[in-house]
Amino acid sequence: FAFGGQDVIISDELSKEFEPEKHIQFIKKYSEDKSSYEYYMTEYLRMSGLYWGLTTLELLDKKDLLSEIEVMEFIRNCINDNGGISPSIDHDPHILYTLSAVQVACILNREYELPTEKIVNYIKGLQQPNGGFFGDKWGELDTRFSFCAVACLALLGKLDSIDLQKALEFVMSCHNFDGGFGSRPDSESHAGLTYCCVGFLSVTGNLHLINADILGYWLCERQLLSGGLNGRPEKLPDVCYSWWVFASLHMIGREHWINHDALKKFILACQDTETGGFSDRPGNMADPFHTLFGIAALSLMNHNGIKLINPCFCMPQHTISRLNLTPQILP
Ligand code: FPP
Ligand code: ZN
Repeated sequence: FAFGGQDVIISDELSKEFEPEKHIQFIKKYSEDKSSYEYYMTEYLRMSGLYWGLTTLELLDKKDLLSEIEVMEFIRNCINDNGGISPSIDHDPHILYTLSAVQVACILNREYELPTEKIVNYIKGLQQPNGGFFGDKWGELDTRFSFCAVACLALLGKLDSIDLQKALEFVMSCHNFDGGFGSRPDSESHAGLTYCCVGFLSVTGNLHLINADILGYWLCERQLLSGGLNGRPEKLPDVCYSWWVFASLHMIGREHWINHDALKKFILACQDTETGGFSDRPGNMADPFHTLFGIAALSLMNHNGIKLINPCFCMPQHTISRLNLTPQILP
């Protein structure tokens, strides 16, 4: 493939069929090969890796390839006394990995095994006077953590345990004139953080506060000639933004504002048909993160052989339905 300005060109030989079996093998091998360089280098985010892998397998109806008993044992070993959950044993707890662990337990129908009250107290303790959330005790604060907080609490059925009004005020203070959202007040719009803020508004039923046409326009401008989506103006397309942008468009009911066939073609071109898995762009190395978001975006387009995903929680819709959660979607 060739770069065409800030885009890639999807030539005919890059056009690919969906290869679910290869992706299943990719995730299985990744989780089994515990002595590999990649496995070693990703220990600091293992809990999220587990969420990406398990969700991918469940979307392809193969979650039984991971041992439920071992997964729940791993989660138990990552729960700290303060209720926060770590990415891996003996690492520090963080709200990102706390959400991943809760997502995994819910997908396995085993959320009742979690110490709900301790986890809720940990999240409560991260909320700040401005309504935003720290990611952990070190004090980084951005809108990603606002989403993690409400998604996690909603999954545990405890959304009312924080100051929701303050939390909402913080998220709305990160809303920009172009319709998008940034990480903190006055930060530029970024599609990943826009997903977090739209997700926050969806979980808490506040989507009516934004102008969906203005945001929808900013989001659909993320589609490039290759069909792929970028995260900000002038950036290259990336498969994970197929999720951050397209899922946001779904939540605000504007998913038909981009070209689905072109997006599908771009995503399918990012498959590694030898190793399995998806990479960020055609020809790069596949990883479990881009594999989930590629397959999740295909699920939003009702691709054959992929279970339906929920655009707000990025979890199988049947799990969200079982938990009786109905994140808001605009008509
Ligand atoms: C881009 O990151 C993506 C984001 C900032 C969004 C991350 C979202 C969460 C952590 C919420 C949890 C998500 C789910 C699906 C449950 P990047 O660092 O790759 O940004 P860059 O492309 O600008 O480098
Ligand atoms: Zn990416």
